[in-house]
Amino acid sequence: NGAGPSSTNDLFVVDSPNVVYTDTEIKSKYTYRTTSVTQGSDGKYVATPKETLYGFKVDRKVPKVGCMLVGWGGNNGSTVTAGIIANRRGLVWDTREGKRAANYYGSVVMGSTIKLGTDTNTGKEINIPFHDLLPMTHPNDLVIGGWDISSMNLADAMDRAAVLEPTLKGLVRKEMALMKPLPSIYYPDFIAANQEERADNLIPGSKTCMAHVEQIRKDIRDFKAAHGLDKVIVQWTANTERYADILEGVNDTADNLLKAIESGHEEVAPSTVFAVACILENAPFINGSPQNTFVPGAIQLAEKHGAFIGGDDFKSGQTKMKSALVDFLISAGIKLTSIASYNHLGNNDGMNLSSQRQFRSKEISKSNVVDDMVAANTVLYKEGEHPDHTVVIKYMLTVGDNKRALDEYYAEIFMGGHQTISIFNVCEDSLLASPLIIDLVVVSEMMTRIQWKAHGTDASDEKYSSFHSVLSVLSYMLKAPLTPPGTPVINALAKQRAALTNIFRACVGLEPENDMTLEHKLF
Ligand code: NAI
Repeated sequence: NGAGPSSTNDLFVVDSPNVVYTDTEIKSKYTYRTTSVTQGSDGKYVATPKETLYGFKVDRKVPKVGCMLVGWGGNNGSTVTAGIIANRRGLVWDTREGKRAANYYGSVVMGSTIKLGTDTNTGKEINIPFHDLLPMTHPNDLVIGGWDISSMNLADAMDRAAVLEPTLKGLVRKEMALMKPLPSIYYPDFIAANQEERADNLIPGSKTCMAHVEQIRKDIRDFKAAHGLDKVIVQWTANTERYADILEGVNDTADNLLKAIESGHEEVAPSTVFAVACILENAPFINGSPQNTFVPGAIQLAEKHGAFIGGDDFKSGQTKMKSALVDFLISAGIKLTSIASYNHLGNNDGMNLSSQRQFRSKEISKSNVVDDMVAANTVLYKEGEHPDHTVVIKYMLTVGDNKRALDEYYAEIFMGGHQTISIFNVCEDSLLASPLIIDLVVVSEMMTRIQWKAHGTDASDEKYSSFHSVLSVLSYMLKAPLTPPGTPVINALAKQRAALTNIFRACVGLEPENDMTLEHKLF
């Protein structure tokens, strides 16, 4: 009980009768405290504190992990690959502002800390890197590969992306020139017609079929074998597709979806074919774009196979700000009445989004991000009332990957007054998205090594099981978080972070972070 691990490099151990370390596992008993509420006929609520005892089990062995990107040769794919190589080799390069060194800024796992507790002697907070909370894989150790409909090698793709400094590119070029994306599937109807020119690296066949699923499965297996990997995580960072229509008998159930693929139905998107292949191969699949890859049949298939999926749409810039700022405004009791969001960008993503049906996917994913915060405040908003919200995206070649996002937040304040907040956000889009790709891999992989159970009266008779197939714990990194069917979506950024950190804390028997600091407030 409470004995520390003998031969690991853990930064801390938890000294508690509820936490047991073995050479291979960390087991914790965790009391989950919630409040159960009922409403009487008089309209009054009765709130009853509730305790549920859970058991968590963490596999301590960090496996060898591969990450396969769909759209590997794109801006995100080439940037994250160069970034990992640069970090792995500890590169330093010259810029006009002086020397710069590789880092993982923008990754919540690699760049942020969590409060472990308070120093027994000094009363000061002890904060540790998020990455040290559990035995997580290190991004430097990831083996990167993937597919692209463009055959360009990763060194040339990095030039095409025009994101990184020439001096840095020079240092990684040799290694990246040897990296070539695997051929991919291309159904022209799903992405903008302006992408056709780069589609020169294709698995034969222009509509969905089982042979495509099988080829992708084989690619994953071959990649695993070639690099001696224990696990592969796959992410879609390819072009935004149009929405697929949800059709009865086609993509509404797992069986129908498989049949639709077999019969070559045209409403099955390439991203869904990838998702199906990954589910069948038991490789976690994350969708970094906004389209509805996870049609109901795909979610059901994942549930059936106990495979992990996550999505949708990387939350990098504008939406991340929005989910923090709107949470702040509404929690401050300020009545937000409208949000106008404009973007212009000049990278290939922007060019693809200049097509209406692909823009529509993005518009949907960017639009729902304030719903839960508005619905939670019944003081400011009547039922059904909602702030106006407009999203505009324009393609402007000149600004390249340096996306501009202009946001106006308009709010009603005390006694009929108004507050207008204008934000002008400029940044390299791919430098914001790349660390998210890393976080999504590291967290998803960690989730494959966590099991839990509800403790009954006799703790030993309950079996451990995995988390639900839909990894809602990834919400912090995603604009339109996918959650298990029928469960609420949380968009507020602080809540998303709290869910992630507190679930990981529970795995080592630590209480949720709380900021009461009573120890400093009481006499
Ligand atoms: P990009 O256009 O530079 O890269 C996409 C790559 O996907 C291209 O190389 C293209 O050839 C490839 N591709 C298209 N269809 C494919 C298929 N069926 N199979 C394999 N490869 C395929 O775009 P970027 O900037 O890298 O963004 C990628 C995706 O991530 C876009 O959908 C974008 O909307 C999404 N995203 C990006 C964010 C960012 O901050 N960069 C934020 C949120 C989402």
